[in-house]
Parts: sequence; C-alpha cells; structure tokens
Amino acid sequence: MTHDKTSLPAILGGTPALSIGHERSNKWPDLTHDDEEAVLQVMRDGNISTHNVIRELEKSYADFTGRSYALAHNNGTSALLAAFHSIGLQPGDEVLVPSATFWASVLPMLWVGAVPVFCESDKERLGIDPVDVEKKITAKTRAIVVVHLWGLPSKMTELFTIAERYNLKIIEDASHVHGASWRGRPCGSLGDISVFSLQGDKLAPAGEGGIFLCNKYEYYEKAVCLGDITRVIELETPSRRFAATSFGIKTRIAPLSAAIGCNQLRRLKEHNETRNKNLTYLSKKLEKLGFHTFLPPDHIQRVYFEYLIRYDETKHPLSIEMLTAALTKEGCQVAAPRYPLLHQQPIFTEGVFKSVLRLPPGEQVPSYEDVSLPFTEAANKSLLKLPSFPGPDNGILDQYAHAFEKVMNYSNEIAERGKDT
Ligand SMILES: Cc1ncc(COP(=O)(O)O)c(C=O)c1O
Repeated sequence: MTHDKTSLPAILGGTPALSIGHERSNKWPDLTHDDEEAVLQVMRDGNISTHNVIRELEKSYADFTGRSYALAHNNGTSALLAAFHSIGLQPGDEVLVPSATFWASVLPMLWVGAVPVFCESDKERLGIDPVDVEKKITAKTRAIVVVHLWGLPSKMTELFTIAERYNLKIIEDASHVHGASWRGRPCGSLGDISVFSLQGDKLAPAGEGGIFLCNKYEYYEKAVCLGDITRVIELETPSRRFAATSFGIKTRIAPLSAAIGCNQLRRLKEHNETRNKNLTYLSKKLEKLGFHTFLPPDHIQRVYFEYLIRYDETKHPLSIEMLTAALTKEGCQVAAPRYPLLHQQPIFTEGVFKSVLRLPPGEQVPSYEDVSLPFTEAANKSLLKLPSFPGPDNGILDQYAHAFEKVMNYSNEIAERGKDT
C-alpha cells in the first residue's frame, strides 16, 4: 500500500479528507423570502392569534395525508397528548411503545394515566418491533405507538395485523417522515390518530408546531375540547357546552408559525428530493465499504430526517469509538444517535414518573428498574449519525466517501495504533 498523504487517514498523519465546510450543504432550515413574506402578511393583517392561516395549514395537512380532520397544535408534544386523550385511554391502561425514540412519543401519555410498556426496536426499520409487541400484550393493552424513526416507515403490515387481532389503536408519530409513504399510503395516514411535529429541525418546520390528524369526528372533537377553546363553539355535538372553558389547557399553534408551516409544506417535495438524492448517492458508496445504510425496500418511499448508518464492529478491526475518532480527524461530523433509550432514563428507573402517573388505588404501579431490551441496547450502540445534507452537493459527499474509504482501508493500522495509546 502506498502511504501518500492523501490516501493515509488523518489519524495516522495523512491529510484530512474534508476540505469543504459543512455550512452550505448542511444548512437547515431552508428559510427564504417566501417564509418572510408569509409571516409579514400575518403581521400586516393584524390577527396574530387566530389568523386564518391556521385553517390553511390544517387543510394543507389534511389534503396531503388524505385525512378527514386536522387540528394544528403549538407543538408535536401537545398533539401527542391530545392523541392519547382522544382515544380514551384510562388510568392503568397499557400502551406499547418503542424505547428508541424522542421522549415526546411516549411521556405525554403519563398525564392521562396510561402506562408505557417498552418494546424492542426492529432491526431493519428501527421502529417498534412487531414480534416483541405481540409478546407484551396483556389484558390491559389498549394501543401501540408507532414512530417511523429518522425517516424510515415502520413494519406496518405486521403492526396492522396485531392491532386488528387484539383490538388495539395505533397512534402514529410521523414527526420524522413528512413526505414518506408505505405501500403508496402517506405516513400521517396510517394511525387511528397521526401526529407530525413541525419543530424547527423537522422536514417541514414551522418553528414550533404540531398537527393532529384523524378520520373520526369523535377524536377530533376530543382534541378540540382539550386544547382549542376557540373551536369548541363550532362543534356539532353536545360538547359545544364546554365552549366557555374547554378542558383546561391551550395548545393552539401561533399563526406566525403556521404561516411558515404552510410555506415549508409546499416546499417539502423539493427539499426531500435533495436529501434523498444526496443520501442515496452516499449510501451506495458506504454500502460497498460494509456499512448498512437502511436503503428502503421497493414498497417504501423513505425520507431522511436524519441520516443514520449501522456499523457492525464485530465484523471489522475498529471499534465504533475508534471509527468515530478516525472519521472526526478526517473532518467528518459523526456521532452516536442523539436519543438516549427511554427505558434507561431516570424518570423511569428512579420511579419519578409516579409523580405524574397517578393510578387509582388497587392498580399496580409499574416498575422499570429491571426493564431490559437487549437487542435495542446493542443495536443503538451500532448506529452512527452523519449530517443529513439537505443542501446542494458541492463535492462534500465524495469527500465523506473518501474519508470512510481511507479509514476502512487502514482499519488494521488504526486499531494497532489504538492499542498503543
Ligand atoms: C419522534 C418525535 N416525536 C415527537 C416530537 C415532539 O415534537 P415537538 O418538539 O414539536 O413537541 C419530536 C421532536 O421534536 C420527535 O422527534
């Protein structure tokens, strides 16, 4: 092997592969003059609390997903709370949830008294594992939370079968998958209730925002009563009598955010195309080097909220920590996935959740101290997060591929060196 400076990994004294900065290719969100204009229009109109742009946002999401009802929220977390409330969960009811997700997919359910039961993640799609779901069903199970993690739709065929067999509701957290689809059906249309977060990092960001979607009027009605006081008067049912009070919280989106949300949804297709083009290109190169990049099967149209790849350290000389260190020396931005597993968090392991989850006398309070999800725990450690490259490829993708190639070519030497340090 020739040891010229450009083929030698930076960690062994070579020239770092990255000479192009990340600013251009990794800038997100992509806010333009149109977003500014949309916000200014709301300000000029003067109604910065209940402006019609909120209804416009709801209609856009209902059309986009083919749902009958959409209710915009101030964030995804409150839309998820509304979802848990609206399906009628009662204190002590169990809900099957993934541990590998953002906390908001799960924790709001504590406020309606529902008990999360943590399940393993599926190896191929990273969502909740249908096999483990079925094992954990009890007489108290009422629902499954399905999160399409990082942009990859979950195993819906199996999950739908289980939901039907055991009469369980599906809450679909579609916060990572704006624009993805499963067997031609858009994500956001796959749950009894589906939720999108529109937080600033998301694929169609609004700054802060969330969308609650369903086909049943009953669910919509409950969500309105919970958090949207100005809409209660519009309800066609006896629930109108709550128009003076609602149910005690207020979760309406701000119109300034809704204006951005409408504009960003219009640009979603274009934005997703750029990410998909960039990351499919890079993935094909990394697959050849032995990384698993979660390229989807034909019946799935995936998107890339974030770009995660899997490295099986049992098949290579370098540990994942050494690989990360070597790639960092090349100038790459690589890190462990940013969500710590929920079942290992102190709110559960130290029993603090009990201060929120007030179960009626006689209900057994769950204990999370001994929860173990061996597959998820191991699999989470094998994931690496790279930039999601939402911007134009200015040559940086080839530099990433080169960095990975160098490090993998010299993995024995890097591992040897690691032993000495
Ligand atoms: C999977 C998932 N669910 C829910 C949320 C909560 O959304 P929000 O931040 O809008 O409350 C987020 C992220 O922010 C998320 O990533």
